[in-house]
Amino acid sequence: MADQEVPHATFDTILILDFGSQYTHLLTRRLREINVYSEMLPCTQKIADLPFKPKGIILSGGPYSVYEDGAPHADPAVFDLGVPILGICYGLQEIAYRLGKDNVDAGTEREYGHADLHAKRLDDQGHVDKLFAGLEGQIKVWMSHGDKLVKLPTDFHTIATTSNSPYAGIAHQTKPLYGVQFHPEVTHTPLGATILKNFAVDICGAQQNWTMSRFVDQEIARIRKLVGENDHVLGAVSGGVDSTVAAKLMKEAIGDRFHAVLVNNGCMRLNECDIVEETLNKHLGINLTVVDASKRFLDGLKGVSEPEKKRKFIGNTFIDVFEEEAQKIEAEAEHQGAKIKWFLQGTLYPDVIESISFKGPSATIKTHHNVGGLPQRMIDGQGMRLIEPLRELFKDEVRALGRQLGIAHELVMRHPFPGPGIAIRVLGEVTPERVEIARRADHIFISMIREAGLYDQIAQAYAALDPSKAVGVMGDKRVYAEIIILRAVETTDFMTARAFPFDNEFLSRCSTRIINEVHGVSRVLYDISSKPPATIEME
Ligand code: XMP
Repeated sequence: MADQEVPHATFDTILILDFGSQYTHLLTRRLREINVYSEMLPCTQKIADLPFKPKGIILSGGPYSVYEDGAPHADPAVFDLGVPILGICYGLQEIAYRLGKDNVDAGTEREYGHADLHAKRLDDQGHVDKLFAGLEGQIKVWMSHGDKLVKLPTDFHTIATTSNSPYAGIAHQTKPLYGVQFHPEVTHTPLGATILKNFAVDICGAQQNWTMSRFVDQEIARIRKLVGENDHVLGAVSGGVDSTVAAKLMKEAIGDRFHAVLVNNGCMRLNECDIVEETLNKHLGINLTVVDASKRFLDGLKGVSEPEKKRKFIGNTFIDVFEEEAQKIEAEAEHQGAKIKWFLQGTLYPDVIESISFKGPSATIKTHHNVGGLPQRMIDGQGMRLIEPLRELFKDEVRALGRQLGIAHELVMRHPFPGPGIAIRVLGEVTPERVEIARRADHIFISMIREAGLYDQIAQAYAALDPSKAVGVMGDKRVYAEIIILRAVETTDFMTARAFPFDNEFLSRCSTRIINEVHGVSRVLYDISSKPPATIEME
């Protein structure tokens, strides 16, 4: 069972009910950016089952028409909860439709793109509705809808218009019930954050106390309560941001009763194990065991060139090695009269969102599970429980948390690195020699990016090894040698990405250094493909 306790006791919560819009998670983001805690749940959420009372509710947009068979509708109890409600796009239609089916016209006037919104002046002094306070002039908003409100629901009045939408913003005359036709959460609505702040802070009265320093205090207290005085916690670390931050939080909460394990799979970056040991153990004081299983991994990878086989082998071997180590640590703990009852997992909020997003009337809502399968096996086999201290956080919040915990800037800003490591960047067969070539080229490329001051502008960069060889002339001799492919991307969400626009001179210098310093390389290429259609990794 996952640790399900949530931070509602400390932070006022704005609940986002997701009707399936591609923008829903941005509502959560925008509110967190103004230090208001916000959480997203599927629109099918039963209010009676909520473990907390929200300060306000936002009904998101969605791809449906309220008239469609099986269109999603919110639990009627949402409207009896007595808290302010803001409907956005589909959410607006949902409010209007429940109050009168003829209020909404289905799919008559599709509108997509920018519109100029005017908040309506409500009196002679030029006051506008609270929702639009500070936005008295004309503002740009983003529209993306099919259904359209054709008349005001009973007891509502208009608070904003565009040339196309006479009901671009509506409010109930006496109750805190609002609806907007546009999307305030997207960057194409530049002042949308003001609207969301007006709703959350001024209308709902939510406190702006969602800060990482408060989160640290409450999370440490929560972990201590959950784990108790005697139990121990086990967790895998990789040297990446998430596992390091989660490990440091555990260290702060329960000291040496947290056991971190780093498995060297032989496909890590240059000097990675030493760096992780130095950082986690020496600097952050974390109780760390490093297991060198590189031979076991590299031996097993011999002859494996199919990407999925590589991933499966590495994932399964990781589980085996980790379990063997866990048993040793457990035996040692038991010897001291303690028990390892918890497993630390660095699940982030985007994983949680992915598992709870509303996928449509016919799709079942999948529950989150760890891709590697490790926790499930340990939960079933050893009765361990999961502890997930980062499950409410977005990546940039994890970075802020890392800074709050005193973790160095370089580590907090580190690019992601895939679990299978260099094995999925050595295209084709993985041999120790080919891993070493990719590793050395990668080290040069990343060092040069750092020296050029570009590291923090790039979301992820690495060197890969092409499966073919190419001819070159080196020292007057013809060589037939390896090809290095450099990849560097700009992205915020890793779902879409663009190749980083290095200047040619920089790339030429990288090429020269890699060919001169990495024996066996005759050529360096730069991958300029975007995602989609290309992915960030090559395999
Ligand atoms: P793609 O290649 O799908 O990558 O565009 C998106 C992000 O996911 C990372 N990635 C992985 N991370 N194990 C991981 O831990 C994996 O097997 C894996 N595959 C891709 C990738 O590095 C990028 O940040």
